[in-house]
Amino acid sequence: MNQQLQSVLDFIRHNENITEEEKNHLVALVKKANSDLEITEFKLERTEKVKRTTAILLEETIAELEQKRKAIEETNAALSKSLADLKATQAQLIQSEKMASLGELTAGIAHEIQNPLNFVNNFSEVSNELIDEMNEEMEKGDLEEAREIAADLKQNLEKINHHGKRADAIVKGMLQHSRASSGQKEPTDLNVLCDEYLRLSYHGLRAKDNAFNAVLNTDFDTSIGKINIVPQDIGRVVLNLLTNAFYAVNEKKKQRPEDYEPSVSIRTKKIGNKVEIRVEDNGNGMPESVKDKIFQPFFTTKPTGQGTGLGLSMSYDIVTKGHGGTLKLETKNGEGSTFIVEVPDV
Ligand SMILES: Nc1ncnc2c1ncn2[C@@H]1O[C@H](COP(=O)(O)OP(=O)(O)OP(=O)(O)O)[C@@H](O)[C@H]1O
Ligand SMILES: [Mg+2]
Repeated sequence: MNQQLQSVLDFIRHNENITEEEKNHLVALVKKANSDLEITEFKLERTEKVKRTTAILLEETIAELEQKRKAIEETNAALSKSLADLKATQAQLIQSEKMASLGELTAGIAHEIQNPLNFVNNFSEVSNELIDEMNEEMEKGDLEEAREIAADLKQNLEKINHHGKRADAIVKGMLQHSRASSGQKEPTDLNVLCDEYLRLSYHGLRAKDNAFNAVLNTDFDTSIGKINIVPQDIGRVVLNLLTNAFYAVNEKKKQRPEDYEPSVSIRTKKIGNKVEIRVEDNGNGMPESVKDKIFQPFFTTKPTGQGTGLGLSMSYDIVTKGHGGTLKLETKNGEGSTFIVEVPDV
């Protein structure tokens, strides 16, 4: 018992001025006070213990948090470094993708240049012979005939010049394709651009695999006129879409050589203040699982070495970020796909 309370108790017990009954009552009160005191002391001690344990736990938690903070800082630094590395790799990949698509075009370009070159060679040979003939006529004194030959010669030279310019335009287009995009929008004849890339990509594919054939459909809306776009960028989009379409129909032809006729269409259309390009194929289309991922960089279902999976993600960026347009897809598994590019006509 508490010492002070014990003294009070002794005092009560030995006090002769109070009755036995009063003594019992007071003793009971003191005992009750003592037991309350003991309980309070016990509680106090327990609170003290809890406080100490809490303090220790708190210290441990703070140390742990500090460790975690350091780990996060390190992870952040590592992430920033990977991000910088990724950006550098992406820039390299974009460059190599450009070179790869140029590679895809080379055979088509060679084919396209061959035609005007044949004209230039043939017409210049014929013109050479015509000059001999003209000289003969002049020696004979037949000026009338000589003049007629001179008129033919002039026509020939015009044709040579025309086809020379055509070859020139093809080479310029090719250089534009490989050059880093200037990002400058310029008035462009979209129909000519689409037609050019359709022929280049088709002949490019046929040069690699001359067994390949496809029906090509074009439907160009002549009311479009010239629209403001970055020609080499939109050209790259059209080329990516056409290359994918030709790949898709080619794959289906390999599976069903007898009863399938590959066909690829490109259409342009003016709709209000927008212009639409549709690239449609009757290939195998895509299941939902593929459709959901096609615009992700590096997503490809092509065998290793045949696709980087960057074509559509780059096209998406060019159309949306570069031109404020949209790139959409309609596809039916087993039946074909249509990619729809829409750009504002400004
Ligand atoms: N017309 C299409 N028909 C069927 N599947 C297509 C078509 N176009 C795209 N795809 C699917 O989308 C995927 C991604 O296309 P994307 O053009 O981004 O890359 P890729 O063609 O595989 O490779 P890359 O274009 O870099 O050579 C393709 O691998 C293919 O599975
Ligand atoms: Mg592609």
